Amino acid sequence: MRELAGADPRMVVDFGCGLGALLRRIASAAPQARCLGVDIDAELLESARKTTADTGLDDRVSFVEGDASGWEGPAPDLAVCIGASHAWGSTDAALSALAGLVEPGGWVLFADGFWERPPTDAELASMWEGTSADDWHDLAGLTDSAIAAGLRPMRVEAVERSEWDDFESGFLADMESWLVEHPGDPRADEIRARADAHRGYWLRGHRGLLGFAYLTLRRPVMSREIHGTPSPHAVPLG
Ligand SMILES: C[S@@+](CC[C@H](N)C(=O)[O-])C[C@H]1O[C@@H](n2cnc3c(N)ncnc32)[C@H](O)[C@@H]1O
Repeated sequence: MRELAGADPRMVVDFGCGLGALLRRIASAAPQARCLGVDIDAELLESARKTTADTGLDDRVSFVEGDASGWEGPAPDLAVCIGASHAWGSTDAALSALAGLVEPGGWVLFADGFWERPPTDAELASMWEGTSADDWHDLAGLTDSAIAAGLRPMRVEAVERSEWDDFESGFLADMESWLVEHPGDPRADEIRARADAHRGYWLRGHRGLLGFAYLTLRRPVMSREIHGTPSPHAVPLG
C-alpha cells in the first residue's frame, strides 16, 4: 500500500470493488487520488456508498454499477482487481484487459487464486461444482500471465494460510451466528446448508491447495517516451 500511495496515483479504478474497503484505504493513503469503484452488485454498492459517506471520503471516492469487462470510463493510473478476475471470464483475460486499460507507466494491483500444487481429482470434486485444474495457474504461471499481458511484476506476494483461514472463518461466522440465534427461522435450513457446503469446499477441498496472491504490476511506458523518438523496439501493449 505504501508503495502504491508513493506512486501518487490520480485516477484509481477498483474493478469488482465489493464494499469498497480497499478503495477507501487507497484514498486515505493517496490524498490526490480520485477513486472509482465498479461492481455489478447494486446492494454492495449501496452499502459502499453509505460507509464512504460516513467516513467523509465521498468527495473523492465514488461507485459505478456496471460490468467491469465493458469499462469505458476514465483510464486509471492505478487499476485494482482483487478476487474479481472472473468478471472477464479468466485470469489471463482479466490481466490482458487491465494491461490495456491502465495508462503507460501506470500500476495494476491484481489479486487472484493460484494452485499451491496440482489438485487431485478428489480435491477438485470437493470444491465448487465445475472446478477444474485449468481454473488457476500456479504462482509462477500467474506471474507469467501478467508478463504475457504486457505488465512487469514489481511485487509478488501470497497470503499466509492463517489469513485464508481467517477469511473463510469470518465469512462463515456471520451465517453461523445468525443460525445460533434463529434455529427455528424458515430460512435456517437453507442458510445452514449453504454454510455447511461452503465449509466443505474449504476444509475438504481447497485448504492448503489454493493460494491467493497479490501482484503489484506496472505497464511499461512506451519506448518513445523514454528515448524521445518512436522506437522499432516498442513493447507491444495490446
Ligand atoms: C470475491 S468479491 C471481491 C470483492 C472485493 N474486490 C474485495 O476484495 O473484497 C468479487 C466481486 O466482483 C464483483 N463482480 C463479479 N462479476 C463482476 C463484473 N462482471 N463486473 C463487476 N464486478 C463484478 C462481485 O459483485 C463481487 O463484489
